[in-house]
Amino acid sequence: MAASEAATSAQASVDKLVAAARAVRERAVADFSGFKVGAALETTDGQIITGCNIENASYGLTVCAERVAIFKAISEGHRAFTRIVVVANTESPTPPCGACRQILWEFGGDIEVILANTTAVTARLQMKDLLPLPFDRRLL
Ligand code: THU
Repeated sequence: MAASEAATSAQASVDKLVAAARAVRERAVADFSGFKVGAALETTDGQIITGCNIENASYGLTVCAERVAIFKAISEGHRAFTRIVVVANTESPTPPCGACRQILWEFGGDIEVILANTTAVTARLQMKDLLPLPFDRRLL
């Protein structure tokens, strides 16, 4: 495959992932904050696993979109990932919270994190930059 073809196909898979995160965001249960988030995780074999934030009356038992996506993926047998897209309806990027960074690092390693809103991609980062000096199994 020529370099330009590879770039076009990489862009197509990012576009698909962004579309999946935007679509699942509509299913968010954000009755308390009103802040809907969608996440779409890509496996190394090109499958897409999605998640949305799920709030509840306890508030504290809320689960973010990113963790819903990764826990769904793990429970379905996926163990290797390339990137995750996180979508919120904000102008500035909505990065994963601290708890999600830990889980994304432990199960995804240095994957790419693409932040987007309902109309545009707003940032592209690597997990190693979002979670420098991580605690993980290498230290146990
Ligand atoms: N939230 C996510 O789902 N992912 C993020 O990256 C940031 C925050 C959710 C948690 C809560 O339901 C709402 O957004 C407001 O914090």
